[in-house]
Amino acid sequence: MRTDNDSWDITTSVGSTALFVAAARALEAQKPDPVAVDPFAEVFCRAVGGEWAELLDGRAPEHALRTEFGVDFVNFQGVRTKYFDSYFRAAEAGIGQIVLLAAGLDSRAYRLDWADGTVVFELDQPQVLEFKQQTLAGHTPRAARREVAVDLRDDWPQALRDNGFDPAKPSAWIAEGLLIYLPAGAQRQLFTGIDSLAAPGSRAAVEEASPMDAAAFEAKREEERAAGDENTFFNLVYNEQHEAAAQWFGARGWRAEATPLPDWLRANGRPVPAEDSEAGAMTSTISLVSAIKA
Ligand SMILES: C[S@@+](CC[C@H](N)C(=O)[O-])C[C@H]1O[C@@H](n2cnc3c(N)ncnc32)[C@H](O)[C@@H]1O
Repeated sequence: MRTDNDSWDITTSVGSTALFVAAARALEAQKPDPVAVDPFAEVFCRAVGGEWAELLDGRAPEHALRTEFGVDFVNFQGVRTKYFDSYFRAAEAGIGQIVLLAAGLDSRAYRLDWADGTVVFELDQPQVLEFKQQTLAGHTPRAARREVAVDLRDDWPQALRDNGFDPAKPSAWIAEGLLIYLPAGAQRQLFTGIDSLAAPGSRAAVEEASPMDAAAFEAKREEERAAGDENTFFNLVYNEQHEAAAQWFGARGWRAEATPLPDWLRANGRPVPAEDSEAGAMTSTISLVSAIKA
């Protein structure tokens, strides 16, 4: 169960979700026709070892990413990675400050082409950032990287400024795989923080999910607890939404566009899971949103 000041590393609580999505990216990269290739995802999985390495070697048939849900989840991560990669390519011109909110094991600082002088700020919990730094110690980032160890439920805008972020210059932000792990109040604080630090011409992209039926959500939580695991999906997420991102940013002078995940899967030639499947229920709630500040 979550508490207001809970913390984690790469194998526990919300930190383990960073490893889970990295493993999905690594499996996507193994396909003959990957939608997106993140070569560092495999590096992280091998550094943790155990079931995460076995998964990549085809030796963990029981792993959650090898289930029917897992197959859909890998497709989802493939197209999600492509969405945010493409967003950065479009954002690049004239934007020298990149902010990865809840960076987790995002390797974009190491694998995308950045203009000279670009600074990538990576915000996450300290132990998650430490694992990443140790694991990628032998690799060279393609932009200046600044790690900002902070809890995004606290005063992260100040921490970002303290690390050299300049609100007078344009910036490009992402919140990928983050909002569901924040209560509604912290989501509002996150949007407000982005808006207050983003100079005109800045961009933001977020992944969001509309809440599921409250009773069905509680039942899922109970199911997980009864199975003896409180460190699994429904016990880590909040099932809250402050406000749809396109609406919130749209009302504050940003031009915003939401793409429902099923549309994005179809656009990339990947199947949309059946509505009555576990992955289908999730897919129908998710949108990918990009916005430009006028
Ligand atoms: C599903 S992972 C996504 C990571 C990355 N954005 C990606 O897509 O690969 C969620 C990340 O959010 C981070 N996170 C969640 N809540 C946070 C908070 N309150 N403060 C800082 N980081 C947080 C976790 O540590 C984890 O790295």
